[in-house]
Amino acid sequence: MNAPTSEADDTAAVKGVMLRDAWYYAAPSTAVAARATIHRTLLNEPVLIGRDADGQVFALRDTCPHRGTLLSKGTFDGREVECPYHGWRFATNGQCTAIPSQTADQRPQPGDIHATRYPVRESQGNIWVFVGGRNAVLPPIPEVPTVGHGRPQLHLVMRFPCNIDLAVIGLMDPAHGAFVHQSALWRNRKSVHEKRKSFSPVVGGLGWRMDKHTASSNSRAYRLFLGGQPQTEITYTLPSVRIEHASTGRYSYAGLTACTPVTADTTDVHHVMYWDVPPAPLWRPLVRPMAERFLDQDRRAVMAMQEGLAFSPATMLVRDADTQTRWYFKLKREWLAAAAEDRPPFNPITPTVLTWRS
Ligand code: FES
Ligand SMILES: [Fe+2]
Repeated sequence: MNAPTSEADDTAAVKGVMLRDAWYYAAPSTAVAARATIHRTLLNEPVLIGRDADGQVFALRDTCPHRGTLLSKGTFDGREVECPYHGWRFATNGQCTAIPSQTADQRPQPGDIHATRYPVRESQGNIWVFVGGRNAVLPPIPEVPTVGHGRPQLHLVMRFPCNIDLAVIGLMDPAHGAFVHQSALWRNRKSVHEKRKSFSPVVGGLGWRMDKHTASSNSRAYRLFLGGQPQTEITYTLPSVRIEHASTGRYSYAGLTACTPVTADTTDVHHVMYWDVPPAPLWRPLVRPMAERFLDQDRRAVMAMQEGLAFSPATMLVRDADTQTRWYFKLKREWLAAAAEDRPPFNPITPTVLTWRS
């Protein structure tokens, strides 16, 4: 008997769930100046991200332990954050250092009070914040292959008015390009042809890799930019990080796309680009509008899907074009099951060849 050609979409149990205990892309390094703080909402949690006088980044829960005021609306002298309401002060590790209204014999004293601190890492021009708290040992942050000087050439962020899943699916769907991103430089309906790609599990994470292959003949932008026929490799790792690396041997490109849930129905899609094609910085004014347009096309596509899904239609996941979407939900289920059972997650992906037309 033939294998079924499509399966009913059985992803309801994990749909829209924001995965905790993970590193999330919070901001590009350039968004946080020395002696300054910014506010971000990550998975419905208010987070203050700051950079101290020595250049170190830190992250605290952005609500004052006293009465809840946003600490990021206060002042920061490079050492301590001062709440704008009653002037309680906090060191960058969250320890309270001053409660101006208290007499010496009153409780609490500053030593009794801590603002919640978030683990934070800065690397490759990106600031990652760990949202969760169950883990004694933190996993490594996502790492982008080093291209050129290793710092981003461009960072874009676009807010998608949808849950994390719809934003993420937009990143891995292989069959929408010719319809959503029609462009002379990219692809169009006529360029659609059969593709066969091999995939393997990501080691040390819940994800998969589209193994290194020669870039598709309909990726003209790539070939023009890098000059030649690049080899590309793409990895996707939970909770929401896609890393693409393309190289002709002479020039290289790396792209990091990271989706960060802001709330249950708002997601920031960050796209960070690294390239070494000279004259590297001069490409920015050309690449930025193209990349923005591309991301906005995805955003609109996702919004149209969201409007349809509001009617709760029965949907399906076809093979093999929707297999990566199925993997995403499968891995998400495994992530949640492992957390519930307090065990390490197991990557159920096995080496697979997928065939589709795009
Ligand atoms: S609310 Fe922050 S000091 Fe009172
Ligand atoms: Fe897309």
